[in-house]
Amino acid sequence: MMLGAPKKILFVCLGNICRSPLAQGVFQHRLAMLDSSASILLDSAGTAAYHLGKPPDPRARAVARTAGFEIVHQRARQVIAADFERFDAIYAMDRANHHALLGMAATAQSKVQLLMSLVEPTSSFSGLDVPDPYYGEIDGFTEVVSMLDQAASAWIARYIEGQTH
Ligand code: 4NP
Repeated sequence: MMLGAPKKILFVCLGNICRSPLAQGVFQHRLAMLDSSASILLDSAGTAAYHLGKPPDPRARAVARTAGFEIVHQRARQVIAADFERFDAIYAMDRANHHALLGMAATAQSKVQLLMSLVEPTSSFSGLDVPDPYYGEIDGFTEVVSMLDQAASAWIARYIEGQTH
């Protein structure tokens, strides 16, 4: 099956230690089941510089492991201008980061999207912010994984139909 050009996708949250590393991990985990997974490059970054060089939050690592994938190798970095050239799609976890990314994107505005806008309007998660779990309990991280899983399913369905951009 012809699935189109290689895709480079960047997931962005605030600190790059909770939501966007989990997004990268969930998508990697789900994409591993596709034949063409090698032609999709995934990365994550934060709009803030609070945690540069750190591995994901221990709670994010724990929920990832429970869900069957590992994110321990990831290290936090900040979004840079070159990301808007390098990546085909840049998915913001929430509106605040979406807004921050649009402010940096210059002519690449159309690459910047809200992650949960991928999900069908019939889903209760459609168009929502992926809530920042950092100051909450472990349940918040589990909820984040559920949302990311729906986003990954929606992305893969569109990818197979050749509708991603
Ligand atoms: P993330 O979560 O944006 O999902 O990585 C956060 C991590 C750290 C902070 C805020 C959110 N912080 O304020 O340090």
